[in-house]
Amino acid sequence: MMLELDKLSAHYGAVEVFSDVSLRIGAGEKVALLGRNGAGKTTLVQALFNLGPRLSGTIRLQGEAVQDWPTHRIARRGMALVPQGRGLFPTLSVSENLRLATLRQPRGAWTLEKIFETFPRLAERRHASSSALSGGERQLLAIGRALLTQAPLLVLDEASEGLAPMMAEEIIVQHVGKLAEAGLTVLLAEQNAALALRLCPRALVLAGRRLVFDGPSEALLADRSLLQEHLGV
Ligand SMILES: Nc1ncnc2c1ncn2[C@@H]1O[C@H](COP(=O)(O)OP(=O)(O)OP(=O)(O)O)[C@@H](O)[C@H]1O
Ligand SMILES: [Mg+2]
Repeated sequence: MMLELDKLSAHYGAVEVFSDVSLRIGAGEKVALLGRNGAGKTTLVQALFNLGPRLSGTIRLQGEAVQDWPTHRIARRGMALVPQGRGLFPTLSVSENLRLATLRQPRGAWTLEKIFETFPRLAERRHASSSALSGGERQLLAIGRALLTQAPLLVLDEASEGLAPMMAEEIIVQHVGKLAEAGLTVLLAEQNAALALRLCPRALVLAGRRLVFDGPSEALLADRSLLQEHLGV
């Protein structure tokens, strides 16, 4: 198992964002985390990295209970985040952003050269300031930076946000799809359910503070009432 959540609950002060979320994600799986605006997707993603809310329950990453660990140690155990809003250093160039990500990281299969080979667009723009990149290029840079941690599990939060539909599709279906084919485990938190389900054969749906669906994407797509009630599609 790559990731196992057991009765995970998250609170901001007295406000419960979700509770009793239990699920398992196996190595190499591609899983979409869906839910309407405000359903708690980002909160769940942040919880995985011990970045936000107060938690109860357990989070196992590659067999190890990590819910009380500091973020950098969780990341090093094998999980990388592409955060909502990308979190790049705007004054640094593409290659500086990437080089920064290689500092203090274990050496592994992902090198600066391999990132540039995988994303030729970034190689062309390597000297550009990251603030001068297009939305799609910025997303590739954020993905490249996450890959440089060598983590086998990639968590992407709203990777399609702010991108034109064709660019969002290129990033998620083509680029992330290719990484997944090569063996990366992917958890994709997305408001854009239609797009996420094109990549991921399995879906999770957060609604009303609960995980209301965990199963094959096909079954979700066939459930009109669930789609309408919880995803508004
Ligand atoms: N730092 C915070 N303090 C208090 N409440 C918060 C905080 N961050 C988020 N919340 C609340 O938690 C709930 C879930 O928000 P979250 O951002 O996780 O949703 P989301 O599913 O990621 O939404 P979106 O699709 O807009 O990204 C919302 O009601 C939000 O107002
Ligand atoms: Mg969010």
